Amino acid sequence: MKTYDLRSDTFTKPTEGMRKAMYEAEVGDDVYGEDPTVNKLQEMAREITGKESALLISSGCMGNLIPMMIKGGRGKEILTSSYSHIVNHEIGAIASLSGTLPVMVPSEYGIMNAEDVEASIHGYSYDMSETAMIETENTTSGLVYPIDELRRIKDASERHGLWTHLDGARIFNASVESGVSVKEYAATADDITFCLSKGLGAPAFSILASDGDFIEKAKRCKKILGGGMRQVGILAAAGIYALRHNVERLRDDHEHRALISNVLEEAPWADVRISSTNMIFFASDYPMARIIEAMRKRGVLMLAEGRLGRIVLSMGINDDDASEIASLIGTIEEGELCG
Ligand SMILES: Cc1ncc(COP(=O)(O)O)c(C=O)c1O
Repeated sequence: MKTYDLRSDTFTKPTEGMRKAMYEAEVGDDVYGEDPTVNKLQEMAREITGKESALLISSGCMGNLIPMMIKGGRGKEILTSSYSHIVNHEIGAIASLSGTLPVMVPSEYGIMNAEDVEASIHGYSYDMSETAMIETENTTSGLVYPIDELRRIKDASERHGLWTHLDGARIFNASVESGVSVKEYAATADDITFCLSKGLGAPAFSILASDGDFIEKAKRCKKILGGGMRQVGILAAAGIYALRHNVERLRDDHEHRALISNVLEEAPWADVRISSTNMIFFASDYPMARIIEAMRKRGVLMLAEGRLGRIVLSMGINDDDASEIASLIGTIEEGELCG
């Protein structure tokens, strides 16, 4: 039986072309800034984001932690949503390593509005921690943040002299879906991080981009976190390949998501709550563990996130696979999920 892995887009594997690019990469000592392939990738990222400087970092978690180390810290607050990755999936590094206090702004599956953000900002008080940063995440729960809302949040941030961090782990999914460029999204924040290792298909790494002064500080944080790496051009080459070859194809993942979502919307046992970019979240009156098991028996792997079922499309799934998955899901009947 064929297995279709819809657990996460982090399960993508390097393709033959990517592996060849990795094999052929020129390398040097990146801690000394002398790896030509890393430098080339950072230059590409700088151009794509429109920021002054870009830094290759180990992971998306590092890309979120470093800005909090620089702009947050003990006695300082970051405004974010209760759905954010920094709050839910980073082992509490926000508190344990950066010391920043997360303050939850109301949101619709992670999308905050500028009024709620601004209402959460407070001025100096002898007994309150200081609002220092705002974090947005795009995509969040697979949803594309409306660019106008991001701009309004940035305006509010500037009015109050705060720093805005954008967790753009899946910013290319947002861009391909909305037609808004990564540069335009990046302009709504003082720094942006994005992942090469998710839908873009590289085996590792993220980028952090911002102004030159911030990135100089970020380099020291990267080093202290154990992120100083030597001849990593071999991996950076995968990132260059991903940015050249795997951005436009994210559209395929979004089309596959729509196809599978149509079947779930018809299924009496599923209540689709979010269907956007490469992600589907659905509720059910039946135990999610039973649904996951019914899927697994058909070779379809998925996860639960909280009380919702989660399906994520990525490059391991082609057009035929997506049609086959839709048919397989269509065979699940309520009887199988009872008792
Ligand atoms: C929105 C978001 N931010 C950050 C990360 C962290 O990325 P990494 O696993 O590379 O640390 C993830 C990972 O899934 C993510 O979904």
